[in-house]
Amino acid sequence: MKKLFSRTALILSLCAVSSVAVAEDFPFKKQIVARQAFMQVYAYNLGLLGAMAKGEADYDAKIATGAAGNLLAAAKMDNSTMWPKGSDAEAPGLDGKTRAKTETWSTYPKVTEKHQDLTDALIEMAAVAGNGLDAVKSNMGAVGKGCKGCHKSFRVPKDE
Ligand code: HEC
Repeated sequence: MKKLFSRTALILSLCAVSSVAVAEDFPFKKQIVARQAFMQVYAYNLGLLGAMAKGEADYDAKIATGAAGNLLAAAKMDNSTMWPKGSDAEAPGLDGKTRAKTETWSTYPKVTEKHQDLTDALIEMAAVAGNGLDAVKSNMGAVGKGCKGCHKSFRVPKDE
């Protein structure tokens, strides 16, 4: 009896696990998770530079050079397969799963121009981030604009 009980318990727990997995599944999950993680890599590295620029962290040439280099490396990464057509916020099943606007695809290649603006700013930042706090500070605005410029056009605002 004990054996039967534990087997039943195991089956029940397996069912619980699989129903959670089904509930969490949505179209283009892999790509959406990957591109959001990719954006988090941007945010993490920009945060290191931002903390120095705001005086919340001491300037450290090695950390600044690393963060700026990572941002540029990320921008140069081919992430095109993370943005399949039909994986926008209005697509069936994707409400609340992604904030990528339909315009990302419907106005293509505009989004690539925004990406280029960021890359240009990051080339400048990566070239000088090790030269001192002033160099970081003076390039922060352009990098921030590079991010925001794309979000404004292609990311659904948080409250929508
Ligand atoms: C070429 C356009 C573009 C550029 C440039 C861009 N982003 Fe994004 N970002 C997006 C889009 C679109 C989303 C929504 C992705 C989704 O939810 O599927 C997003 C989402 C995010 C998110 C939320 C990720 C999550 O976990 O849901 C963060 C954070 C972010 N971006 C930070 C940045 C930072 C920092 C930069 C600049 C260094 C940047 N982004 C540059 C288009 C861009």
